[in-house]
Amino acid sequence: MSQAAGSADARAEALHGLIVEGLADRGLAIIDDFLPPKRVAELAAEARELWASGDFQDAGIGQGGNFQHNATIRTDQIRWLNPAAATPAQGCFLATLEGLRLVINRALFLGLFEFEGHFARYPAGAYYLKHLDQFRDTDQRVVSLILYLNAAWSEADGGQLRLYTDPSDESRQELVLPIGGRLVCFLSDRFPHEVLPARRERLSLTGWFRRRE
Ligand code: OGA
Ligand code: MN
Repeated sequence: MSQAAGSADARAEALHGLIVEGLADRGLAIIDDFLPPKRVAELAAEARELWASGDFQDAGIGQGGNFQHNATIRTDQIRWLNPAAATPAQGCFLATLEGLRLVINRALFLGLFEFEGHFARYPAGAYYLKHLDQFRDTDQRVVSLILYLNAAWSEADGGQLRLYTDPSDESRQELVLPIGGRLVCFLSDRFPHEVLPARRERLSLTGWFRRRE
């Protein structure tokens, strides 16, 4: 193994440890530089290309027979990842998450079975109102993961993720800026959250570790 690969592995191991610790302590972890900047830039470029070629669809809510487009709740657009046709950058993201999934299972016994995820694009002004990531009828989504893909994002750009860290006390909130390379990871049934409107296009990769049905 090359030295660079060795240090990348050591870094991934350290980050995975921090995520496990955050999930165990408070159900939440926020990690910067989860992927190398080059990979984050590639993923952002791929999101833009897919969007330009008409590959995104309006996001919906609910699942199966309950699925509906509901522009009063969310106005982002998404494009599901297809692991069988992953680019090198998407493959790097998926491989890193696969390592993380195994580490979480070993440490926390969550029985995570697979990852499903999509690119998300919020045009300027788009939003996602307060919600939980678990569908009403199932608890298949156990851990939510969001990797932001936005270069040079500042407070003035808005677009924060607002997490309600204590569902019984609305005033307990955490505001997360969607800074490129930042990963937010939380227990899907624990935290209502919302996406505030941004002043510019806001890109992410969003997904879930799921339990078997
Ligand atoms: C979601 C979501 C948060 C974000 O897609 O379910 O809550 O910060 N995304 O993009
Ligand atoms: Mn959500």
